[in-house]
Amino acid sequence: MAKPIAVVTGASRGIGRATALRLAGDFDIVAVARSEDELAALAAEIHRAGGTCHPVRLDITDPDAVTAELTGVDAQVLVNNAGVGTLKPFMELTRAEWTRMVDVNFNALYDVTRAILPAMLARKSGHIVVTGSISGRSAFPGGTCYAATKHAAIAFTECLMLEVRDAGVKVSVVNPGSVATHFSERSDASWMLSAEDVAEAIARVIDTPPTVLIHSVEVRTLTVPKKK
Ligand SMILES: NC(=O)c1ccc[n+]([C@@H]2O[C@H](COP(=O)([O-])OP(=O)(O)OC[C@H]3O[C@@H](n4cnc5c(N)ncnc54)[C@H](OP(=O)(O)O)[C@@H]3O)[C@@H](O)[C@H]2O)c1
Repeated sequence: MAKPIAVVTGASRGIGRATALRLAGDFDIVAVARSEDELAALAAEIHRAGGTCHPVRLDITDPDAVTAELTGVDAQVLVNNAGVGTLKPFMELTRAEWTRMVDVNFNALYDVTRAILPAMLARKSGHIVVTGSISGRSAFPGGTCYAATKHAAIAFTECLMLEVRDAGVKVSVVNPGSVATHFSERSDASWMLSAEDVAEAIARVIDTPPTVLIHSVEVRTLTVPKKK
């Protein structure tokens, strides 16, 4: 029998890839990203382990493409994970960098969620998980746009949760601290969370009784480097 479907955006690497692998035991995965080769490698790994993965090569900042590829996918779970971050002083941030962050981290939440949510509402069950960030509730120099998009993502998630929980749809946000992925440019990543740590948190948030919602989770490392 087919398993329920989990759509994971940003599945080509990092937290999204680890999440797709972690969920593949319980769900048929729809893996979304732009990088075709990485998606094919993920699908092959999931198939080797006995699971199912359907790669969808998609730029989530293209609303028409999102509508064409994802409308009607009867997903039980949507992990809105794809994100980009250009962390630099405001006066060095170009308009293109600003717009890209807003488009990927925030505007795409509209298109991807609008494509997937109707089937959840019709079925009266489903779970949308957003990968936020601890920068969605704090500030740091260089984060004018990135932190703002993550604040917005958290607000989006909480408002949507209040709108759709009566209809049987859960909405959660998982806010990681620093994670050792392609996203981070720091040379020493040994102290950071792994992508698998965050994937495990996402899986646990999803694996709750039908009447229980874990809405917000913060995941932090215990191995922060000592300040010199
Ligand atoms: N790493 C951290 O320290 C950290 C901490 C807190 C929160 N986060 C959040 O965690 C999420 C995942 O980040 P990560 O660390 O795993 O970063 P990553 O390794 O750079 O992965 C980012 C993913 O997003 C996808 N993506 C980017 N632009 C896209 C687009 N236009 N259309 C479709 N997919 C797109 C990328 O795929 P393609 O390039 O193949 O399209 C890739 O799969 C992000 O939302 C990030 O803000 C990360």
